[in-house]
Amino acid sequence: MRTLPDPPGVGREATRFAAALLLLIGMIGSIADTAPAADLPLPNNWQETGPNSWHKEYARPRAIPFPKADPYSAAKLALGRMLFFDPILSGAKIRSCSTCHDPGLSWADGRPRAIGEKQEMLPLRTPTLLNVAWTPKLGWDGHFRNLESVAMGPITAPNIMDLSEDRMVDRLAAIPGYVEAFHGAFGPGAITESNVEMALATFERTIVSGEAPFDRWINGNSTAISAAAKRGFALFNGKANCAACHSGWAFSDASFHDIGTARGDDIGRGRLFPNSVALRYAFKTPTLRDVARRGPYMHDGSVPTLQAVVDLYDRGGIARPSRDPNIRPLGLSGGEKADLIAFLQTLSEKGKAVEMPALPR
Ligand code: HEC
Ligand code: HEC
Repeated sequence: MRTLPDPPGVGREATRFAAALLLLIGMIGSIADTAPAADLPLPNNWQETGPNSWHKEYARPRAIPFPKADPYSAAKLALGRMLFFDPILSGAKIRSCSTCHDPGLSWADGRPRAIGEKQEMLPLRTPTLLNVAWTPKLGWDGHFRNLESVAMGPITAPNIMDLSEDRMVDRLAAIPGYVEAFHGAFGPGAITESNVEMALATFERTIVSGEAPFDRWINGNSTAISAAAKRGFALFNGKANCAACHSGWAFSDASFHDIGTARGDDIGRGRLFPNSVALRYAFKTPTLRDVARRGPYMHDGSVPTLQAVVDLYDRGGIARPSRDPNIRPLGLSGGEKADLIAFLQTLSEKGKAVEMPALPR
């Protein structure tokens, strides 16, 4: 368990610093390639916080990681943005990736469960795409091994977008603007399934949460968040133990846990690892960036509000062998719950306009 964080301005413990350094080294080790910040649509403060920052582990990273197999290019980004917003990728031309991953709704859809091509409810809630560049395994149960491997899933699934690979390639090849854009990004003969995946993934990696009041506070502006939110942050790292899983600047360990909510055959990552006790009912720890705007919550949209989320953690969920050891009744007072919620509310950036591309026709 973590110790209570130091208040701002107070020197950090050596151990905390060492842990942060290791984290940083770990991150650099896993980053194959990074794009120059100047090329990317990033907020103004896109840089590491100064040397005096007391919480290196909450500092925003300096650059977006791009894998060697799919390096950044401006042409790929522009193409990926067009594909993401274009209903041409749905069989009936009625929905795009952005129908469910809506930038105006923090890149999700605000529904308990997604609605697919057949106007039927899917079994899962749409996750936000904020900070997916830093998420090694994608999907609530982590069954996608990288961002590139996600795209054809929704496109070809009959209940999500319902377009076969062949029809997709034919449609794109019939539009001169796309022929040109694929050629610019990948060279001759470039309209292929794999290039669609790479362009979409390049765009998705640039979906990064912007500066929130919490970041201004971490960067030393002591009035950026309320006293209640500061108490909430201490609880988050201390008594409530949330940071055991919601760790780092994006507030996710990108790992999988049973928090004691799912029931029946909704076993999450357990489906992939039927012999693991710990992975039964385990789902990916979601980022908490923009969380106050993204309800209802959880993989199945079963928890309507942040108050209900905090009440649930306070009760400790269903006690069973798979439940994570960090989940247990917390004994929070009403005031402490309110403080935690005040803290969670500091993680939303001010809404900013997202550039919608002109779609080639
Ligand atoms: C009908 C709504 C819908 C549409 C359309 C849709 N998605 Fe999703 N998306 C979802 C849902 C639901 C999940 C969760 C799937 C899972 O966990 O297996 C998801 C998961 C994802 C993830 C994983 C995110 C994470 O944090 O693990 C990515 C990436 C993604 N979608 C990208 C796309 C792209 C790219 C498109 C367009 C080609 C698209 N989606 C179209 C609903 C949708
Ligand atoms: C053992 C790891 C763990 C701990 C400890 C933990 N969480 Fe979570 N959290 C998760 C997982 C996993 C999910 C997703 C569960 C699901 O989808 O069913 C989640 C989901 C959430 C969500 C919903 C986010 C969304 O987009 O749906 C919020 C909000 C949240 N947690 C806040 C907290 C708070 C506040 C605490 C401390 C009181 C906390 N968590 C403690 C792992 C944890």
